[in-house]
Amino acid sequence: MLPTIDWQDDAIVMIDQRKLPSKEVWVRCRTATEVARAIKTMVIRGAPAIGVAAAMGIALGMRRSKATGTKALTTEFQRTCDMMAATRPTAVNLFWAIDRMQRSFAARAHDGGSVDDIRAALEAEARAIHDEDVASCRAMGRFGAEFVPDGARILTHCNAGALATAGYGSALGVIRAAVEAGKRVSVLADETRPFLQGARLTAWELVRDGIDTTVITDNMAGALMRQGLIDLVVVGADRIAANGDFANKIGTYSVAVLAKEHGIPLYVAAPISTVDLATPDGEHIPIEERPAKEVTHVGTTRLTPEGAKIRNPAFDVTPHRYLTAIFTERGVCQAPFTESLRRVAAQHD
Ligand code: MRU
Repeated sequence: MLPTIDWQDDAIVMIDQRKLPSKEVWVRCRTATEVARAIKTMVIRGAPAIGVAAAMGIALGMRRSKATGTKALTTEFQRTCDMMAATRPTAVNLFWAIDRMQRSFAARAHDGGSVDDIRAALEAEARAIHDEDVASCRAMGRFGAEFVPDGARILTHCNAGALATAGYGSALGVIRAAVEAGKRVSVLADETRPFLQGARLTAWELVRDGIDTTVITDNMAGALMRQGLIDLVVVGADRIAANGDFANKIGTYSVAVLAKEHGIPLYVAAPISTVDLATPDGEHIPIEERPAKEVTHVGTTRLTPEGAKIRNPAFDVTPHRYLTAIFTERGVCQAPFTESLRRVAAQHD
């Protein structure tokens, strides 16, 4: 399976997603600060992968800490959690993972654990978050594959694949599970300006898996829908509000409106860690504004004239009325989403 992030000796290694597909370069992070920088600069990206990286980064930071007493470790731990929380604001998986690490720290410290006990507990928690994410992807993939007809032509936006998770993928997990179930599918991958996650990452993953893949620019989806060439849309999410409104890569909203206009189902595949019941609706989801350079340049080539103002909101919000169903690792949520999301989130709690 495609490795996204892993431990290697005393470091965390991750494939540099800024360089794919032209170069397969592995970045070695030796400190929590290096992990935080890797998240911010999108060496690693995708909501679940960001959460996994933050948890592993926190565990790494505490392993490297010189603190000899619980009090000093607590101060350093909190500082490290705050640094991770400041990396990217939209994907709630980041805050979910930090919260899990905080609860693990507090439980061990409360039990009178030594500094070494706390370090070991944090490392175990980070490993659990990593492994559970892969298992969640496989489970949501199986649920979602039921909704994929044989011969389906599937549109996806951005990259919600193995690279965006600890492995296997959410939206691409659904596609992989459909293929594993013997269905013939073909995928249309939106290029996904400005960072080109679709053209670079989704296409790279699917071609590696031998899945029929066609890259289109973002403005082609409507015409292809009108010609009857798209049967369903499946995407990931960075945060799903309590009412089912969801944030995902900029451009998802346009795809959703087009899909509704053409009577094409729109599915979201996302783990429970993406569901944020504390956020009532999409209006309350913070949207990250990224550096202008991602829009003005492709690589080192400038596209826009000096002096033109630039907007670069990295995500948009799709209201739940455009959504057909959400595939989670605990089952399928359908309207009314307020109830179905609350039900799946409450399971096992
Ligand atoms: O800015 P990115 O690349 O981190 O945005 C990623 C997305 O929008 C994904 O669709 C989302 O995180 C779901 S990934 C399983």
